[in-house]
Amino acid sequence: MLERLTGEVGSKNGNALLRAVWQGDADDLHLLSQARHAFMLAIHGLALSRRGVPCVWFPDYFCESGLSSVRRSGAQVAFYPVTNSLTPDWNACREMAVRQRPDLFVLVHYFGREAEGQNARAFCDEVGALLLEDAAHVMRPRGTIARHGDLICYSPNKFFPVPDGGILVVRGSELSQCVAKTAQGQPRARAPAIHWVAKRLVRSIKRHMLPRKPPRPLPTTTLDAELSGTAPFVQLWMSRFSRWRLERSFRSNEAEQLANALLTGHRHLSSCLAGYGDMQPIGFADHLIPYLTVMQCNDETRAGRYLNELRSAGVEAFTWPELPPEVRADQGRHREALRLRRTLLCCTLGWRGNGTLTEFLATLPQNYTPDVWH
Ligand SMILES: Cc1ncc(COP(=O)(O)O)c(C=O)c1O
Repeated sequence: MLERLTGEVGSKNGNALLRAVWQGDADDLHLLSQARHAFMLAIHGLALSRRGVPCVWFPDYFCESGLSSVRRSGAQVAFYPVTNSLTPDWNACREMAVRQRPDLFVLVHYFGREAEGQNARAFCDEVGALLLEDAAHVMRPRGTIARHGDLICYSPNKFFPVPDGGILVVRGSELSQCVAKTAQGQPRARAPAIHWVAKRLVRSIKRHMLPRKPPRPLPTTTLDAELSGTAPFVQLWMSRFSRWRLERSFRSNEAEQLANALLTGHRHLSSCLAGYGDMQPIGFADHLIPYLTVMQCNDETRAGRYLNELRSAGVEAFTWPELPPEVRADQGRHREALRLRRTLLCCTLGWRGNGTLTEFLATLPQNYTPDVWH
């Protein structure tokens, strides 16, 4: 019933609105249930245009659960090393390309920061690969993000109050046609939204009736054991509910408010935490919207301790990501990714686009000063 109702509202004009936000000067846009399905469409589109099994390169600092549709696609996957500053290690990439060139190179804009788009474009042109900008941590294009890719993917479900939502943007008419042809061949079933709506209703009732529990401390020895991510949607396409809800966010000024709330929360949290021990926030240019506040620690043992201290103080702190098994198995080659995994702490104010940020911010002056930590 709800699906049918919101289906009426998700209009052609609404599609135009979402295109205006994410498509920019590109040729096509696909509304998916999750960003990870963009990899699968890109791989199959590429296989159509180039014929043969494509070889895809992902950064080694990447989440295994985000690869679920890639693993099923049958593509060859390789992991290139990133540096301590979360950029591709171009020397290592050039060495790897001598052995096998990529057909598709994935550049990640970690946590909403601008990655080296121009260098990635130069590398891809050099080796004859397509460039996919993974903007899953980016709310909407800004700065140099989405300027250089043949394909760009976004994950609006991370920013907006929607049960599902991924976007794939494609540049170039030939590639667009191949991806569109692949998309047409996929089952038309959409991700279901009704369970999410029901769960959210229960959560919001609970939030108003029960006291908020602080995040649980984690055993410091198991920094690596904490896995993230929810069960993936098998259906490829965005639910009508999410489409309608996204359109509504942009039609009103909700999207703007969400961006401002993220920015305010991030600025406050990073300035509070910067004074704590030897943690430092990773830098963000002023024109960007941070997905998370990320603190860099110098040492793994201290990172474990800080993680628990943050959590007992009520900050949602966690380490990211659940690294792919190939990366975990080669500690020498992927040492930076492994180190980043154990020394970067991702923090939020427990806000997931459900209005609690305002409540949280209201309590900050008393509860979130550096004094809390000492
Ligand atoms: C960098 C990155 N890319 C892609 C994805 C996949 O996004 P989605 O969950 O929308 O499929 C994730 C998931 O968290 C991610 O962190």
